Amino acid sequence: MKKSVISLVCWMAALGLAHKPVVLWHGMGDSCCDPESMGRVAGLIQEALPGTFVHSVQIGDDPDSDANAGFFGNINEQLEKVCNDLAEIPELQDGFNAIGFSQGGQFLRGYVQRCNQPAIHNLITFGSQHAGVSDIPGCADQPDFRCNLMRSIARRGVYTDYVRKHIIQAQYYKDPKNYDVYLNKNIFLPDINNEFLLHKNKTYKQNLLSLNKLVLIKFAEDETVRPAESAWFWFYNEEGDLIPLEDQPLYTKDWLGLKTLNEDNRIDFEVCPGAHMRISDEYLIMIVSKYLSSDLPLLMQQTPA
Ligand SMILES: *[C@@H]1O[C@H](CO)[C@@H](O)[C@H](O)[C@H]1NC(C)=O
Repeated sequence: MKKSVISLVCWMAALGLAHKPVVLWHGMGDSCCDPESMGRVAGLIQEALPGTFVHSVQIGDDPDSDANAGFFGNINEQLEKVCNDLAEIPELQDGFNAIGFSQGGQFLRGYVQRCNQPAIHNLITFGSQHAGVSDIPGCADQPDFRCNLMRSIARRGVYTDYVRKHIIQAQYYKDPKNYDVYLNKNIFLPDINNEFLLHKNKTYKQNLLSLNKLVLIKFAEDETVRPAESAWFWFYNEEGDLIPLEDQPLYTKDWLGLKTLNEDNRIDFEVCPGAHMRISDEYLIMIVSKYLSSDLPLLMQQTPA
């Protein structure tokens, strides 16, 4: 038995049935290429699943301008660039798994809905703002001049013409007390969440339904994202009560296919211990082996000749 498993693994490698490649999209204040951050994640993936190709999304020509692009720019344009970039990477052409960290999570969901060529198999998001944020995120512990600059500009008014088109965080800001203004002014989130009452994009739903798994991870002690439950698509109503996904029209009317996916057991709602983006090696490795490893148990049922 043991021998046949080993030869099966060799077979799989020879047939190209190794683990799917992985694409990472970092969060706010981070960059594509920090060895301590996305580099650490890539290292852990490659340790757990040797031979796995890992690509970290980069906007801008170098890590520094990539970090800038996490604060300043138009996410619709950035997403289009990422669609074009991923389409040109030969290793990804048969599809891939993806992990989005914080805002990178809703952006990767945007990739699935708008492009998805090549297609994402499992999409995992850590502490993302799928339902938006009711506050522009704070600037964490380390003083980050970009973050402080972003906040000072956003203070001019999240929905003013300049801010809404140039500050990334404004593009997923949602004022629960001014829902109509949000619908009219926000250039990204209402579209990607199919919230326009008269216009639902069927492609968005179709593409999201093509996922094998959508894994929504919330941080247990998240104090950066308001509300932290946005990671599970929960959000405040006008009275300030937190409304679970299942009680929102987004779900009950299945605007994005979330209801269908969930009833099909293809959404996993998970909780990661700790504060926003404080992911332990242990937790990350658990997620990697659960969702990024290829389907060995299924293949093992067939005995190689
Ligand atoms: C729906 O979204 C797709 C992908 O972004 C886009 O190509 C298409 O034009 C949109 N359809 C409508 C009716 O807006």
